[in-house]
Amino acid sequence: MKRLVTVLVLLAMAIAMVLFLTRPERLSLADLPDYVADTTNGERLFNAGGCASCHASETEGPGKLHLGGGLEMETPFGLFRVPNISPHESTGVGKWTMLQFVNAMHLGTAPGGQHYYPAFPYASYSRMRLEDLMDLKSYMDGLPAVDNSPGDHELKFPWNMRLGIGVWKFLNLDPSFIKMVDEQNALLERGRYLVEGPGHCGECHTPRDWTGGLQMDQWLAGAPNPEGKGRVPNITSHDNGLADWSTSDIEYYLASGFTPDFDVVGGSMVKVQENMALLSDEDRSAIAAYLKYIPALSKVRQSVSDID
Ligand code: HEC
Ligand code: HEC
Repeated sequence: MKRLVTVLVLLAMAIAMVLFLTRPERLSLADLPDYVADTTNGERLFNAGGCASCHASETEGPGKLHLGGGLEMETPFGLFRVPNISPHESTGVGKWTMLQFVNAMHLGTAPGGQHYYPAFPYASYSRMRLEDLMDLKSYMDGLPAVDNSPGDHELKFPWNMRLGIGVWKFLNLDPSFIKMVDEQNALLERGRYLVEGPGHCGECHTPRDWTGGLQMDQWLAGAPNPEGKGRVPNITSHDNGLADWSTSDIEYYLASGFTPDFDVVGGSMVKVQENMALLSDEDRSAIAAYLKYIPALSKVRQSVSDID
């Protein structure tokens, strides 16, 4: 009996320790740069980041800028309902301060201090410059306010407890860049920033480990498709990736949706490509240069069920 009590006390202490170590982090006002936001750059980052792909309440035409949320994302953990991030005062984020927004994007921490689920790809957005996040918020402040309350997520136990996300963050949230590039090469640097940061390409194109974190040694080497059948393709320069694509093929694909074989983009890449088409030629060249620069990889463990 005594031993059981000791074990329980130790367990409670261990849990308290873990919760303390993984508590939500926040920046303070002093961490924000003294900076006048630029909404044009904010619009560019909004497109690069694909915010409308998940948060738009209408999917066609100008409705893409109505960020009322409501999209239902089915995952193995349960159903996520994407929230309203339009500037509506009560159902959206109209009352949020700049600091609250930066904390959500950079650290995955909500204004009330809770952790966000990584279904919101802040693990990538955390690599964005604070100035860019400030530009992004200023741009989004000018979008239409949409009155819509999408409702709560319906997640299975234990995923319905936000406290545990701290452990995930401890293992997987790291705002440093993944690949080394020559810092003198402005094009590669820009490409790295767009791909590893706002573009969050790795969230789909990189396989995940058992913790749900990206397997960085398989960066962009392709992954099982979360939508079910088939794989998200390898976009490194490996033979079963983009070996035969030139940088201009990649640029053309991102701008038009056509592959070098005159195939048309499909699946979850459709919305990504539509957003890439809104970027400048320079941004698309930078992304292409980065993809051709990083090491060619092929997923090492390929089970029969992985091959489509
Ligand atoms: C893959 C889908 C997806 C994309 C892309 C995405 N989000 Fe989200 N976002 C979510 C989900 C899901 C949540 C809810 C997370 C939670 O409840 O923990 C969320 C939450 C948020 C929140 C918190 C809202 C609140 O009410 O607390 C903000 C702010 C936000 N996203 C901003 C953005 C911005 C800005 C972008 C683009 C740079 C973006 N999101 C792109 C899925 C996405
Ligand atoms: C939401 C998931 C998702 C995200 C985010 C994403 N992709 Fe994709 N991507 C896909 C899927 C799925 C395909 C396969 C499309 C098809 O079947 O036509 C694809 C295909 C591609 C292809 C063509 C590869 C081929 O062999 O046909 C390229 C190039 C590409 N993506 C680049 C990118 C870049 C660059 C980014 C980041 C800016 C990105 N993707 C972000 C899901 C995604």
